[in-house]
Amino acid sequence: MRKEILFSREMIAKRVQEVARRISADYTGRELIVIGILKGSFIFMADLIRAMNIPCRVDFARAASYGAGQESAGRVIMTKDIETSIKGKDILVVEDIVDTGTTLSYLVEWLKERSPQSLKVCAFLDKRKRRKVAFEADYVCFTIEDGFVVGYGLDFNEQARFLPEVYVLEKQ
Ligand code: XMP
Ligand code: MG
Repeated sequence: MRKEILFSREMIAKRVQEVARRISADYTGRELIVIGILKGSFIFMADLIRAMNIPCRVDFARAASYGAGQESAGRVIMTKDIETSIKGKDILVVEDIVDTGTTLSYLVEWLKERSPQSLKVCAFLDKRKRRKVAFEADYVCFTIEDGFVVGYGLDFNEQARFLPEVYVLEKQ
C-alpha cells in the first residue's frame, strides 16, 4: 500500500480543537448525545469529545455501505442500532467522511424517524466533489479532493486505521 501524507497529527489536532470549540459554543447549556458511526469515526470522535468543553453522552451505530474496496455499494444497511432513546434530544452524528452522501443522507432520515429535538452532523472529512446525493454536514474538519484516504480511523480493507495521520493512497 503506497501512500502519501495528507494531514499530520498537528494539523489534525489543531482543526479538531477548532471544530470542538464551535460545537461547544453551539450547544452550551444543552444535553448533547453524540452518535459515532462505526467503525471509521471512533478515533475522531474520541478526540472531538475530549476537546469539547461541554458534557455529552455517547452512543454508536454501524452503517455498512462499502464492500471490500474503494467503491460504494450504493445502498446502506444499518448493522448496529443505537441503544439510547433520542426522542426530544439534541443529537450530533459523528462520521469519518462524506463521500457520495449516500450513507449520511440515509442515516439522518433513519434517526429523524425517532423524533430527536435537533440533529446535526459533524464529519472529519468531506469529499465534496464526489456527491451523488445532496448532503451537507453541519461541521467539517477538512474538505479534500478525490482520492482514497486512510489513517485516523479510516481504513482500506481494515488496514491503516491505527495510523495517527491521514494519508492518501497512491493510484496503482
Ligand atoms: P458515502 O459514499 O455513502 O460513503 O458518502 C461514506 C462512507 O464511505 C467510506 N469512504 C471511505 N473510507 N477512505 C475510507 O477509508 C475514503 O477515502 C473513503 N471514502 C468513503 C467511509 O466508510 C464512509 O463512512
Ligand atoms: Mg464509515
